[in-house]
Amino acid sequence: MRIDVVSIFPEYLAPLELSLIGKARQDGLVELNVHDLRTFTTDKHRTVDDTPYGGGAGMVMKPEPWAQALESVAGVREGTKPVLIVPSPAGERFTQALAYELAEEEQLVFACGRYEGIDERVIDWAQEHFTVRPVSLGDYVLNGGEVAVLAMVEAIGRLLPGVVGNPESLVEESHSDGLLEYPVYTKPSSWRDHEVPPVLLSGNHGKIAQWRRHEQFRRTAERRPDLLDNFDAGQLSRADRNALADLGYNVVDGRLRRRMESNTAQQTR
Ligand code: ADE
Repeated sequence: MRIDVVSIFPEYLAPLELSLIGKARQDGLVELNVHDLRTFTTDKHRTVDDTPYGGGAGMVMKPEPWAQALESVAGVREGTKPVLIVPSPAGERFTQALAYELAEEEQLVFACGRYEGIDERVIDWAQEHFTVRPVSLGDYVLNGGEVAVLAMVEAIGRLLPGVVGNPESLVEESHSDGLLEYPVYTKPSSWRDHEVPPVLLSGNHGKIAQWRRHEQFRRTAERRPDLLDNFDAGQLSRADRNALADLGYNVVDGRLRRRMESNTAQQTR
């Protein structure tokens, strides 16, 4: 995969030289280039921003340096349209499913906006050369797209073949099957009066698998009940359904529904 990142703070992307992604670059699994937007300006002051039309606070990134920068990295291969990811709190949500989807692409380009954002015409113009996807890390506001790019490149990069040493570790992790991961433990089995759940020491692999699955449901119900609202109940075994029933969930029309407490139970409180 080829990744290009355009930013006015290229040094912000230095961590991409470290750890798993740094190693993947060294091994030739990922070709990653960071470009300084200011090198695509033409004025003495290397200006990248200006005041917003219509008034208001802050500055807006000028369109022409962006067009120059994006033209220089687009179309690595004739006839292909790379995906242009524009990190923005106003984008679609970045999820594990989107990370898997983007990991299939040949080339990704990230455009890191700063200030109040990039002139919207860049987004319109860029559709000719790219598949444009404004993407948000979550419902909060960062100062720019760089931190979001670090997170997205790590999430996508680790899914590329050969990047993670043991691909099995990608199978049983949070969000890979729409649920949070089960808790994990290592030696010693007793630590500061806290014990490892006995089932994990039992050697009974069937029971261990069942316990882990139950813990996934328990954690997800407790921490991220929204994930269960969209969970495809068609993939549930009978043991899963029993575990979920214990947690107060029934399957209705192929979806999980939280059981309402009965009126009598509420009245007696
Ligand atoms: N830029 C500013 N805030 C952001 C967010 N929440 N996600 C992605 N990019 C951003």
